[in-house]
Amino acid sequence: MPFQVTIQPSGTQLTVPDGETVLKAALTEGINIPYGCRNGACGSCKGKLVQGEIDYGSYSEAALSKIERNAGFALFCCAKPLSDLVIEARVRQAGDVVVKKLPCRVHKIERVADDVVILSIKLPANERLQFQAGQYIDFLLKDSERRSFSIGNAPHDDEFTQLHVRLVAGGKFTEHVFKTMKERDILRFEGPLGNFYLREESPKPIVFLASGTGFAPIKSILEYAFRKGLNRDRTMTLYWGGRRPKDLYLNDLVQAWAKEQANFQYVPVISDAIPEDAWTGRAGFVHRAVMQDFPDLSGHQVYASGVPIMVDSARNDLTAKCNLALDDFFADSFTTTADVLAAQNKP
Ligand SMILES: Cc1cc2nc3c(=O)[nH]c(=O)nc-3n(C[C@H](O)[C@H](O)[C@H](O)COP(=O)(O)OP(=O)(O)OC[C@H]3O[C@@H](n4cnc5c(N)ncnc54)[C@H](O)[C@@H]3O)c2cc1C
Ligand code: FES
Repeated sequence: MPFQVTIQPSGTQLTVPDGETVLKAALTEGINIPYGCRNGACGSCKGKLVQGEIDYGSYSEAALSKIERNAGFALFCCAKPLSDLVIEARVRQAGDVVVKKLPCRVHKIERVADDVVILSIKLPANERLQFQAGQYIDFLLKDSERRSFSIGNAPHDDEFTQLHVRLVAGGKFTEHVFKTMKERDILRFEGPLGNFYLREESPKPIVFLASGTGFAPIKSILEYAFRKGLNRDRTMTLYWGGRRPKDLYLNDLVQAWAKEQANFQYVPVISDAIPEDAWTGRAGFVHRAVMQDFPDLSGHQVYASGVPIMVDSARNDLTAKCNLALDDFFADSFTTTADVLAAQNKP
C-alpha cells in the first residue's frame, strides 16, 4: 500500500507507491530533493528520518555510517517507507538553481599532475550553468551511464566550467579523458547536482579537508567565500592531503591565498613522501592532522571531499573523538563504479 511522506521543513507532501524508494517517488512527482549516484554509494541523498519506519535497503557504509544511522539519518535513494513518514530533506524550490541536461565543448585539457587533468568545458553561447559553489555535474555517457565531477570554479568565474579529473586505472571515462579526448570534442552533462555547499548562515569556523582532486569543490567554495568576504567573520582552514607533494597540483595557488586572505590558513599534508621529495611539512593521513590540531571541534563545521576512505574516516573519527556534531559534517565522497557495485552487492 502507498504511504504518505511529509518533507520538512518545506512541509511538502509526497505519496510513495508500494515498494518504491522515497527518492524515486519524489522525482516522479517533480519534487527535487538532492541526490547523486542513486545507488547508496555517495551519500548525497542523506537526510533525517524524523518519524515512521523504513526499510533502509542496501547501501555502502561509506555513504551512511552506523553512527549516522543511529543518529536518525537515512539514504532516501534506498529507503522504502514501511509506514507514513516525516523526513527532513532540502527541497529545491522553483527559483533555486535549475538542473539541466546540456551539451558542452571541450575547451582545454591541462595536465597538472601525472594523474590529474583540469578539463575546461564551454557551454553553448546562450546557456549558463547556475550552481552553488561546491556542487557537481554528471557527464552522460552512452548506455545511460553517468560519471560525476565537482565543479572547480566559483559561480562568478563561469566563462568555462572547470573539472579536476583524476585518472582511475581501468576507468571508462577518465581513461578516455587522458588518452583520446581532444579539444573541441562534444560531451553531454546534467547539473548542477548535490548538496555540498557552504552553509552561509552559520557563524562557525570552518575546517576544509580535501584528498587529491577533492580539492575541486573546496576551491570553488573558497573562491566564492573570498569573493563575498565571508572569511572576514569566519576562520577557514584547509587541510589538503596527497601521497606525494606533486599530488597537491594547485599548491602555489593555495599558498598565495594563505598570504593574501584574512583568516585563512593552509596545511598541506603528505602521506607517502620519498627522499627526493625533500618534504619537511606535515606527514601522515590528512584527517589525522586535523585531529592533532583540533582535538575539540565542537562549535566548528567540517567540509570534506575526496576518496571515500578519507571522507568515511574523517566522519567517524572527528565525530567520535573530536566532539564534532554530525550535523556540522558535510561531505562529497568521490565514489566510483567499483564502490557502487560493492554497495549493491551488500546483503
Ligand atoms: C559527487 C561526486 C563528485 C565527484 N567529483 C570528482 C572530481 O571532482 N574529480 C575526480 O577526479 N573524481 C570525482 N568523483 C569520482 C569520479 O566520479 C570517478 O572517479 C569517475 O566516475 C570514474 O569514472 P571512470 O569511468 O573513469 O571509472 P569507472 O569505469 O567507473 O571505473 C571505476 C573503477 O571501477 C572498476 N569497475 C568498473 N566496472 C566494473 C565492474 N563491472 N566490475 C568491477 N569493477 C569495475 C574499474 O576498473 C575502476 O577501477 C566524484 C564522484 C562523486 C560521486
Ligand atoms: S544518491 Fe543516495 S547514496 Fe548516492
